[in-house]
Amino acid sequence: TFFEATCTAPVNIAVVKYWGKRDTSLILPTNSSLSVTLSQDQLHSKTTIRASADFTSDRLWLNGIEESIEKNKRLVACLRETRALRAQIEAKDESAPKLSGLKIHICSENNFPTAAGLASSASGYACLVYTLSKLFELPLNASDLSIVARQGSGSACRSLFGGFVAWEMGEKEDGSDSRAVQVAPETHWPDLQALICVVSDEKKGTSSTEGMQLTVKTSALLQHRIKNVVPKRMEEMIAAIHNKDFPRFAELTMQDSNQFHAVCLDTYPPIFYMNDISRAIIRIISEYNKDGIKAAYTFDAGPNAVIYAPQQNMREIYAILSHYFPGHAFEDSLGLKKNDTVHA
Ligand code: DP6
Repeated sequence: TFFEATCTAPVNIAVVKYWGKRDTSLILPTNSSLSVTLSQDQLHSKTTIRASADFTSDRLWLNGIEESIEKNKRLVACLRETRALRAQIEAKDESAPKLSGLKIHICSENNFPTAAGLASSASGYACLVYTLSKLFELPLNASDLSIVARQGSGSACRSLFGGFVAWEMGEKEDGSDSRAVQVAPETHWPDLQALICVVSDEKKGTSSTEGMQLTVKTSALLQHRIKNVVPKRMEEMIAAIHNKDFPRFAELTMQDSNQFHAVCLDTYPPIFYMNDISRAIIRIISEYNKDGIKAAYTFDAGPNAVIYAPQQNMREIYAILSHYFPGHAFEDSLGLKKNDTVHA
């Protein structure tokens, strides 16, 4: 006999970026952040977990290839936390199946390139923790689960909710107040769409985890950002979302992406995530916005752009980007769906 659960989880793209940890093992951030969760049509992670008395060890397959679990401290932490919660249920209820002591096999897949700055760790860990919670029938809400997912990858805590999601940095040393909350559901602003421009699907040079701690160690600009910029920006961003004020939302998004990459440049030695194509996309969108803001760009720890815009502008933006980056795969522009992907 075995017990099994399968779930999928979406990608989220931050508009106020998380960059820097105050605790690297619990994954507690130096500032709050805010993201938009994308629909699962295009990008998602899918995980199946099976628990059985026949298994002799915990095992993990990522995109079909077996990986070591023991070496992965973050995965071990998520397993330990969820098993401990399951053990509490079993202690209280004699009739509950004894799952906490069983070995498990985890099979996880992304339908998009891993570690190319396309938030694969966010959807991956959100999916792992959510699937574990289903397997173990944990009575936790999404915000409680976000505390566990956060220990897999910081940005993963925000993928437990749809729509607009804040990760409140919290103050406590044990991390119990560092959790995700929903600012507004996806139905609040259906007109807002995301377009992902795949500039490169190669694995990035400096991982977010390493990069952000070098920034914490060396960047004076990060200290300014944490203290004087992000707290006010979080408030303004939440107001812009509540008011569905696209120009303000877009301005804050672009400014925050710019400051994140400025902080990377201020790191010593500097970290470069954007390339010439990324910068060309910034110039094109800035020109497009000359007479009024119609689109926002944002870049994570890689060269790929995500464009946020009202639905009515998306077809035009898609056409402009296809024009400037010809000879690439710009398939099916007529079938442009919410959260479409462009290969530049
Ligand atoms: C630039 O969540 O990947 O995408 O917590 O070390 O796993 P770890 O880092 P990760 O960092 C994401 C950084 C970012 C900004 C963001 O998503 O807020």
